[in-house]
Amino acid sequence: MSTRDERTTNRKATTLPSSLGNGTQSFVGSVIILGALLCLWMGSELQFLQAPEEIKLRSSSISDADHAMCERICTQRKESSKKNRFYGTATDLLNPEKLIQRAENAKRNLIEDLRKDYGARYFVQIFQDEETGEFRPIVPITPDGPSMERLKRKLLIKVLSAQSNVKRQEASVNDGRCDCLNGNQAVASKSRSTSEKTLSFNSPFFERYVWATGGHSSAAGHGNLFNETYTYYMERDLVDVFGAVGIEFVGRNYAMGGTSSGSEIAMCWEQIFGSDVDIFSWDFGMTDGKTTEKILLYGLRGGLSPGHPAFMGIHMGGSSRADREERIKDLEKMGMAAFMLDDTGLSNMKRAVPDSAGLGEQELAALPEYVRNLKCNDGFEKGEPFCDKEKFTHFICDNRGSQGSWHPGFKEHAMTGHAVSLFLTNALISALKSLREDFGDDDKGLLDQLRSTDEQAYTNLTQAALPTVYARLYQTKNEAIPPDFDQSIFYKGHNFCHTGRLPSQTRYLGYLTESDKRGGPAPWANVTYDTGLGKDEAIKNDAKGSMQLIFEGRGRVRDCPVTCMPDAKDSFMTHYKDGWAKISFPNTAERTAYRYDSNSLKGMLIIIFRSCDWGKCEKGFLRHEEFLDGKWEMKVNGHEVKDLINFGHDTFAAKDSNGIYFSPNSEGIYDVEIKVNEEGGYVLVSSFIIY
Ligand SMILES: *[C@@H]1O[C@H](CO)[C@@H](O)[C@H](O)[C@H]1NC(C)=O
Ligand SMILES: *[C@@H]1O[C@H](CO)[C@@H](O)[C@H](O)[C@H]1NC(C)=O
Ligand SMILES: *[C@@H]1O[C@H](CO)[C@@H](O)[C@H](O)[C@H]1NC(C)=O
Repeated sequence: MSTRDERTTNRKATTLPSSLGNGTQSFVGSVIILGALLCLWMGSELQFLQAPEEIKLRSSSISDADHAMCERICTQRKESSKKNRFYGTATDLLNPEKLIQRAENAKRNLIEDLRKDYGARYFVQIFQDEETGEFRPIVPITPDGPSMERLKRKLLIKVLSAQSNVKRQEASVNDGRCDCLNGNQAVASKSRSTSEKTLSFNSPFFERYVWATGGHSSAAGHGNLFNETYTYYMERDLVDVFGAVGIEFVGRNYAMGGTSSGSEIAMCWEQIFGSDVDIFSWDFGMTDGKTTEKILLYGLRGGLSPGHPAFMGIHMGGSSRADREERIKDLEKMGMAAFMLDDTGLSNMKRAVPDSAGLGEQELAALPEYVRNLKCNDGFEKGEPFCDKEKFTHFICDNRGSQGSWHPGFKEHAMTGHAVSLFLTNALISALKSLREDFGDDDKGLLDQLRSTDEQAYTNLTQAALPTVYARLYQTKNEAIPPDFDQSIFYKGHNFCHTGRLPSQTRYLGYLTESDKRGGPAPWANVTYDTGLGKDEAIKNDAKGSMQLIFEGRGRVRDCPVTCMPDAKDSFMTHYKDGWAKISFPNTAERTAYRYDSNSLKGMLIIIFRSCDWGKCEKGFLRHEEFLDGKWEMKVNGHEVKDLINFGHDTFAAKDSNGIYFSPNSEGIYDVEIKVNEEGGYVLVSSFIIY
């Protein structure tokens, strides 16, 4: 169920036509090239349709009219699938040789587009390493380590699973009445009727591959439109490459301004990024700072999610670079596929960009769009005459703000996004080639075998020992904490999170508030998911004893007609005027979506307050100190909370007279109640987390 829902959420993003630079032309070009290829394939297809052994499958109990109907339906189906932009029939996807051709074609088209955007010469100089000829700067965290094989294994599983879905679907068309895979035949079945259902060839995809971006404001694209972020550039490239092999590529940019990778984002990983992620990034250099253990926390919380995703560190430079790389190597040692955007490679890319300063008007105009005014007097995206001015686009929502010097502009985003797509394109093609080598008659056997290896790798990850540095992250020397408490639970223990943060899958899919309003990132005036109430409105509203989900106006550019900075620090509010306000979780939708089992949790309740920009909180917002001063109170399942233990990194654990573990009610649910005692005061909780 969640898969279908998530598909709807992302449809908008993934069905946009490819239009990079002069992309429309090259899209048309690619249709022509592929049309020609289709003609070549057609010959073998006709042969296939008329193969004698398939004709003798016809059963005498099925009428000629039924067969004629199926013949018509199957032919129409093949015709219509040729018209979709992923070109070719479903059965093409079953041929490993054709899969490679298709992916190679899509790669050629992508490179063709990039050669227009960057110029043929600069494209090579920027994206290709001059010594090895390989694309840069994404590399496995250990050269020749196991990460590349792990990534390819996962990609192969997707390809084989797509094929298996093609077979299932094509062998059972028109409600199971026609077998279009084995010769356009009518199938004998009880439910068969002569009526012909209207054809709906709904999706050209048979699997999905999901990328999720985690990071701070730079990755979130502050200062830019949402479709100018590297996640979007990458998605636009890869929709065609993965689409060529029947896989829908989805890019989720769920980075958030002013946010580090932990505790909140790591502990709420699955609720924020989703249960179906295949690869995710860490781009929190500026906000994580020296606390490199957070990479381990965030990486593992992601790695242990049901999609068994791979990890990619982005923008790892600076003084903590060596430590960060060590932590990512730890993730690889524990069993994950781990990659990084190599900073040295990135510097070399920037070096290869031509300098726009000092060029005449004509010379400047002759520079390709994505290198023009990118570098001025050796400054990247800065300097005179036009690099500052052209760092961000201005043609729409020019009031968007956040265009600080530390936020990359669209040209740097584009460069990062294309670099990741070139890397993933090559990984996919390399996986397809290994499929050709390993492909026996028993491709079903291969899929099962790879899946079982993947399961084994996952089990290994759950059991792998943490590197000793893990114990440095939280402060556990507190007499209120049981002496046998081991903070490894934060890294590897089961947990559940109820979070107000945006973007997040739990909100977009309607789980958080058990709502049938669903959606995704959108212009603020057009969001379709449950927004909760504006803070001022919520203060006037009679909450009837409930904690209210609220949003705050700050940072919401409401008059932008396209999506722009959709991240927001929404929270659950208890106001003085509310008296005791209650919130209960997990709700029914959450219990199903997150496979909730209260027995797998110890009952530790963590609250994370809404963060304050630059550490300055607004008047009236009561937090930890005010709790200790008795300005607000809290109960968990009726038990009075006596203390909020500060573990550090925004993590506060509730403690009652029995300790830090609480029992849920008989249905596994936690009821949290808060009451504010100071007039006009309020408490804003960003996330409730149970371990
Ligand atoms: C982003 O969206 C705007 C508005 O639809 C469009 O004009 C622009 O070309 C898009 N930018 C990119 C890089 O796709
Ligand atoms: C899981 O761990 C075992 C024991 O260390 C090892 O032999 C096996 O290769 C690992 N499996 C995978 C898929 O990594
Ligand atoms: C978005 O909301 C604005 C303001 O309400 C409205 O004018 C516009 O038509 C909406 N756009 C879409 C695509 O729904």
